[in-house]
Parts: sequence; C-alpha cells; structure tokens
Amino acid sequence: MKINNRLKKIADLVDKDAKVMDVGCDHALLDIYLTKEKKISYCIASDIKEGPLNQAKENIKAYQQQEKIELRLGNGLDVYTEDISTIIISGLGGKTMQGIFAQNLEKLKTIDTIILSPNNYQKDIRKFLTKHGYYIEEEVLIKEKKIIYQIIKFKKGKKKYKEQEYFFGPILLTKKNFLFQEFFTNELKSRKILLAILPKNFYIKRYKTKREIKEIEKVLDIKA
Ligand SMILES: C[S@@+](CC[C@H](N)C(=O)[O-])C[C@H]1O[C@@H](n2cnc3c(N)ncnc32)[C@H](O)[C@@H]1O
Repeated sequence: MKINNRLKKIADLVDKDAKVMDVGCDHALLDIYLTKEKKISYCIASDIKEGPLNQAKENIKAYQQQEKIELRLGNGLDVYTEDISTIIISGLGGKTMQGIFAQNLEKLKTIDTIILSPNNYQKDIRKFLTKHGYYIEEEVLIKEKKIIYQIIKFKKGKKKYKEQEYFFGPILLTKKNFLFQEFFTNELKSRKILLAILPKNFYIKRYKTKREIKEIEKVLDIKA
C-alpha cells in the first residue's frame, strides 16, 4: 500500500507491535498502512468529528482492515484506554496537541511512546512533554508538497534540554541537514515579515521575535 512520505515517516517511527491510538485519524490511512503492512496487529483510530470517522470507516473497509482497526469518536485522550501505550497525533497545531495532553494528564501514566507531527509551536510541545516525564528519542524532517514537517518521537524518561534545543529540536540540531537549513530559513523569513508589520507597542512580541531571528541566524551561520 502506498501512502505519502509524511505518513510513511511517521509509520517508520512506530515500534513493531506497538499498541497504537491515532488521535485525529481523519482518513485513517496511516493506521491502515500500519496494520496492512503488519507493523502492528491492532490499532485504535479516533477523531473528534463524525465526518472524518465515516471516511475512515469507508477506507478501512476498502482495505479490509475492519478486524484490526477500531474507530472511536471523541475529543483527544477522552477515548483513550489503558491497553494503548503509543499515541500518534499528526496534522494538528502544537498548542492543540498540548491541550489534548493537558486535559488528560493522568492518562500519561500508561503511555510510553508519543509520536507527534505538529504544524507549529513545536518548541512548546517539546517543553510540555519533557516537563511531564518524556525525552526525545528521535526527530525527523520530511518534505511533502513543498511543506517541511517535523516529526518528533517521545519516550518515557527524563532528560534535560537547553532552550535552544527546545526551539530547534535537540536531534534535528545535531543532524542539521539540508531540510533543517530550508525549514529554519523559512522560519527566519516569516519572523522578519512579522517584525516589519508588528506595531511598535507590541514590546514583548517584538523582543521575542528579534531574539529568535538572532538565534536562527546564529545557528544557520548567517552574518546579520
Ligand atoms: C488535518 S487532519 C490530520 C489527519 C491525519 N492525522 C494526518 O496527519 O494526515 C486533523 C484531524 O484531527 C481531528 N481533530 C481535531 N481536533 C481533535 C481532537 N481534539 N481530538 C480528536 N481529533 C481531533 C480533525 O477532525 C481532523 O480529522
């Protein structure tokens, strides 16, 4: 079965035979791929909306995976059960992901692996989950239709990170590959545009943006 590069990279990070719940599954193509390729034997695909779940149901039927994928309708971890040890969330914003975990903090007790592909606020979700007992085991960048996505795999355990590592990603920072250069060059451009249009009295936002511009220029070795 063929899925896009972004979903394939996420699938690659799933441990063999993991007990997975995909929050915000939408089409459920990731889950179908995981069970069809026999990386895992069973999975829960959940979504907050009925429309996507109906689409998921159709897709699951088309690929004959009804026995292996259970659908659950609900908000984030509200529909989580303790038999699941790996949570995947992709295609949502970092703040939304943070909210999903914050609303059900006690459920983290039985979750040992979290794989996320946040559309933004990657720094915030790294900080949040490391504060709540996870470390970053792997990070990758993947380009799909001109957009570069970050994928972060957290495991239960403690590790300390510097502010710079939260921002760039501790593992991405050590690899610093060509996608890293491209991703943060784009981040630099968007911050420069933001700074140009931010009203002068937005002191804190302007200060924060200037600091991030300096930091990105330093890491990308760009002379200001
Ligand atoms: C952009 S799609 C991403 C689909 C898929 N995960 C992917 O990466 O291709 C986001 C999906 O998350 C669902 N969603 C948004 N907030 C949610 C929440 N709090 N709990 C569960 N699902 C949610 C939406 O209904 C939508 O189907």
